[in-house]
Amino acid sequence: MGKTYYITTAIYYVNSKPHIGSVSEAISADVIARFKRLTKFDVFFSTGTDEHSQKIEAKAKELGIDTQKFVDDASATWRNIFDRFNISYSRFIRTSDSDHFKVVQEFFKRMYEKGDIYLGKYEGWYCVRDETFLKDSDLVDGKCPYCGGEVQRISEDNYFFRLSKFRDTLLEFYEKNPTFIEPESRYNELLNILKGGLQDISVTRKSFKFGIPVPFDQDHTIYVWFDALINYVTAVGFLENKDMFNKFWPADLHLIGKDITRFHGIVWPAMLLSVGLPLPKKIFAHGFWNIEGAKMSKSLGNIVDPVEFAERFSTLANIPFDFSVDILRYYLSREAVFGLDADFRIESLFRRYNSDLANDYGNLINRTLNMLSKYKNSAVPTASSDPEFINFVSSVLPQFNEAMEKYAFSNALESVWSLIGYLNNYIQVKEPWKLTKETEKLDIVLKTLLEGIAYVSILLQPFMPSVTKFVLDKFGVEKREIEEYKELVHIKTIEVFNPIFPRLEKEKIELVGEANTSDSKESNVGITKITYEDFSKVDLRVAKVLEAERVKNSEKLIKLTLSLGSEQRTIVAGIGKFYSPEELLNKKIIIVANLEERKIMGITSQGMLLAASTSNKEKLTLLTVDTDIEEGAKIS
Ligand code: MSP
Repeated sequence: MGKTYYITTAIYYVNSKPHIGSVSEAISADVIARFKRLTKFDVFFSTGTDEHSQKIEAKAKELGIDTQKFVDDASATWRNIFDRFNISYSRFIRTSDSDHFKVVQEFFKRMYEKGDIYLGKYEGWYCVRDETFLKDSDLVDGKCPYCGGEVQRISEDNYFFRLSKFRDTLLEFYEKNPTFIEPESRYNELLNILKGGLQDISVTRKSFKFGIPVPFDQDHTIYVWFDALINYVTAVGFLENKDMFNKFWPADLHLIGKDITRFHGIVWPAMLLSVGLPLPKKIFAHGFWNIEGAKMSKSLGNIVDPVEFAERFSTLANIPFDFSVDILRYYLSREAVFGLDADFRIESLFRRYNSDLANDYGNLINRTLNMLSKYKNSAVPTASSDPEFINFVSSVLPQFNEAMEKYAFSNALESVWSLIGYLNNYIQVKEPWKLTKETEKLDIVLKTLLEGIAYVSILLQPFMPSVTKFVLDKFGVEKREIEEYKELVHIKTIEVFNPIFPRLEKEKIELVGEANTSDSKESNVGITKITYEDFSKVDLRVAKVLEAERVKNSEKLIKLTLSLGSEQRTIVAGIGKFYSPEELLNKKIIIVANLEERKIMGITSQGMLLAASTSNKEKLTLLTVDTDIEEGAKIS
């Protein structure tokens, strides 16, 4: 049997939408999964949604939607976003899947029969936000110690899992396997918990119905965490597909966030010990993403919507959506020391984009193809690459592989950039423009550059699957596995193509930065189709410009005061490069009147105006009405 690799992410609560943090976890797992596939592993990669929680039921009630319908829609949203981020999962598991239902009940039954589950009385607290049982001594100022939220008092008959029974076995296992949990700080944290002793935990709820019932006592619903952890065995066919299960279990890696290590490092292994299944090989707990130095939170309004961000980036840079997804994937992988907290900053993203991607990698491609066109009429030389470069590759590849094995993505990318740096420097040193009369030398230089770009693109595939596919297709590279250097470019010609990463001016930073707070979301024509019903949700109105002024410190933004007849609105729009405030006065323009309010540069914008622009963003014109019509008139 060939080498197999089973990797999982946490499964995501569907009461909120994906944000940069949750998507970054899926991206990291995807990077690992792709790397393993490219190094000849048979990979199973599972991710999905966690749907049976009290907070999800509460959210559906609050919205007045049937709970099952709510989770169906919400789970589809997550899946769709993961698809758009090219998360190459093998299974997108939902805890409402029918095979999972059976597996959870079977687990519960087996544990009960082993005497590891018993009926008792729970007296204590419950934090709905974290879906966690808490003791009096856990509370901090009467609130949840983890999220600082309100807690509920619970007093009900519950089934308990005899977690305490597994403490000694787990402690021994931890001592024998010091890399079971990484990073080390998380391992130490859990080791200390184990040393302090374990208490039995409640694993059912009586007052809550949206979930999987206890198989032999339908009054009780299985606790969401007990249900959720089991997804890892359901996903690879426990009960339903013995061969697949035996092939992939135990998991090679559970990739999770630092906040849920106790469930994964203690509760889950104890559950597995109870039913007699082998423990996962490794649990890696990554850190959290903050935004511009602050914790991500709804109340701060700083949650970055990754799709909206990528859409806006693609419009501003005038590149395909998939490429801007790759830019985010690159940034998230490059910027964090994986395992520690990291900070998402628009400025640093732009710096990385302009310097690493546009300047270093992008420009290397442009320069090379331009020289190939100029000196060789785009014909690929048959010469072999410079042996010095080949030697350099063989010293970098082990560094790259080692970093990838340790999930040190930033270091792995650094080693790829050492190759890119080598090649850019190679152009400077060899000065191909001086070799036009020395064909042999010129051919070696050009071939080395082409092969170098192909090789670098191969290494970058896990991080930037779309961009690298584009480049490798153009270069006619067929064998794309990550391995020792070998000749890659076999096609005859490579034509110059548009820069994959056009440099962005500083002024665009502020506009992309408004991705999650902006009024003027520009969408890409033809990306998705909407139904008539979707369109009819948009309230378009005619509005007259009463006042217009430039927003301080911004070249692009103009603040407009508009009349809709019965009411006035303020809108901030990025049209300052194309209109002066004076020319806007008294114009009758079209706005989307039922958009959520957004803060832009500290001003609340209450809608969005419509404008048409050319794809290179050189020209923009506002939509107005053909003949005069009263303000507030509805457009349909
Ligand atoms: N449903 C549980 C997990 C069950 S796994 C059997 C859950 N869901 S969650 O939606 O709250 O979190 C899912 C994952 O996203 C977790 O690994 C969590 O650590 C991660 N993140 C949530 N916020 C994050 C950041 N700000 N940054 C990075 N990861 C973040 O917990």
